[in-house]
Amino acid sequence: MSLLRTHARVSVGAPSLVHVETATHAYEVANLSVGGALLTAGPILPEETEVGLEILVTPAEPIRVRGRVCRHHGLPAGQVGLGIEFIGVTADAEARITSAVLDAFRALGARVLGQVRSEMQRRGVTDVALVAEELHRMKDEQARTQLFAHDLFTEQGSNAVATIVSGATGEKRECIVWSLNLYLGLNREPRVIARAQEALARFGTGCGTSAPSGGLSSLHHQIEPEVARMVGKPAVLLFSTGYSANLGALSALPGPKDLLLIDREAHASMFDGARLSGRKWVTFRHNDVEDLTAKLAQYGPNHENVFVAVESAYSMSGDLAPLREIAALKKDFRFFLYVDEAHTFGFYGENGGGYCREQGVTDQVDFIMSTFSKATASIGGFIACEAKYRTLLQISSSAYIFQACLTPPDAAAILASLEEIRDNPSHAALLHDNNRYMRARLVQEGFDLGTSQSPVIPVFVPDLEKLYRLCANLYLEGIFSVPIVYPAVGVNEGRIRFIVNAHHTRGQIDRTVAALAGHARALGVIQGANPAQRHSPSAPQRFAP
Ligand SMILES: Cc1ncc(COP(=O)(O)O)c(C=O)c1O
Repeated sequence: MSLLRTHARVSVGAPSLVHVETATHAYEVANLSVGGALLTAGPILPEETEVGLEILVTPAEPIRVRGRVCRHHGLPAGQVGLGIEFIGVTADAEARITSAVLDAFRALGARVLGQVRSEMQRRGVTDVALVAEELHRMKDEQARTQLFAHDLFTEQGSNAVATIVSGATGEKRECIVWSLNLYLGLNREPRVIARAQEALARFGTGCGTSAPSGGLSSLHHQIEPEVARMVGKPAVLLFSTGYSANLGALSALPGPKDLLLIDREAHASMFDGARLSGRKWVTFRHNDVEDLTAKLAQYGPNHENVFVAVESAYSMSGDLAPLREIAALKKDFRFFLYVDEAHTFGFYGENGGGYCREQGVTDQVDFIMSTFSKATASIGGFIACEAKYRTLLQISSSAYIFQACLTPPDAAAILASLEEIRDNPSHAALLHDNNRYMRARLVQEGFDLGTSQSPVIPVFVPDLEKLYRLCANLYLEGIFSVPIVYPAVGVNEGRIRFIVNAHHTRGQIDRTVAALAGHARALGVIQGANPAQRHSPSAPQRFAP
């Protein structure tokens, strides 16, 4: 069998990582991994053909590998690609290919480290020490150039403003803060702080263990009936975080003959719960009742119990779920409805009882979940449901059984926040006013806010390089929010979120909108100088440059 002699050069300008040429044929390498390559723009060879490749990463020292044609890939513009699986790769060749892949990543200037990690795994760069080292190096570099927002922290906590510190440089900056979910600003409320202090003096610091081992105190026990009353459900089970409430409930509820149907934009904790359950789970299109209906019709008859899991307001898009329409599907299909109210509990519905309450669907919703880390400015989570399901979760949810309880001051802060919400509807009124005002100002400046409505205001910036630059520029002006990228949203998606709270002032909102508009225009994220000309209602695309 004759072997092809193939030369490759790393080409980092294009999305493809490597460019290949041969004496007889010219191939491009659209994709290079440690285990193989995708060759394009050359002749098609039959599957199983063995080839000898000379990958010319540095012209003087080709990497020699043998490979076998294992697949033909359909590519855009009618092209066909050749999937090559490397065989018998020597340790030396493997190390050099790995280094070529890493060099190409470096030169491509990839920013989204979670995405880089997934891509490395896909390309066979799996040596955990090597991957960690590479990501660490990239992170350091980004932090030095103000582009690694995860490195920034508040000096003394926050509310609407904070001193932000850079972990990499130690530099401090006074900022208006838009990335926190402290919707009602109760983390600075005197009553909440005083109650947490009292609890600290009386109950001490940690609980020492989980609920079944006696970790709960009388303080914790006051939370459950209070929340049950607020949301309008008979029983409530307290978890240590919102994340573990979703993880614990969705991993424990479904049995072997059951199915979870989850909105595609739901929070990671719901997907983690579904995965941990080991049961079958399927997604439906975001907020798409038609798609959900089709999936209920398709899968419902083959499963004993179906759980439909949605959020009331979506954390990344700020849009509200069509809860009435979803609940109405119960007339035609048998399913349990599970609603995550992390971004609505405390400031939607009567007395902050949540969006299910506001929409009048509480009775049709079987499980209401929320967190205490947002409107109630503490930490913890809950599931509100019928008493029998509370028992089921209590005895079967690992996150409940094996996780230490939230601390007494946290519990006291929750109770005081719930009282504050009940006694002072002005907190929620201020929040909604601010939300309306900021949205109106952004629309005036030509921003398209999509279908968002809640106090989470997303500004979509599909070009990730521009997104990182936009966040860094705003930060340098004293406006702090972080780029939202994979895995919080899909691969190659990007946005910046402005989470409004009751304590933001009109002046802070105006300053933020003006700076955002200025930088967004300069980067070509929004167009033109005159908002009236810029905003075209016939262009549904969000911020296409
Ligand atoms: C929709 C949603 N569910 C659950 C959680 C988890 O809550 P916590 O961070 O309080 O654990 C979050 C937090 O970001 C969230 O946005």
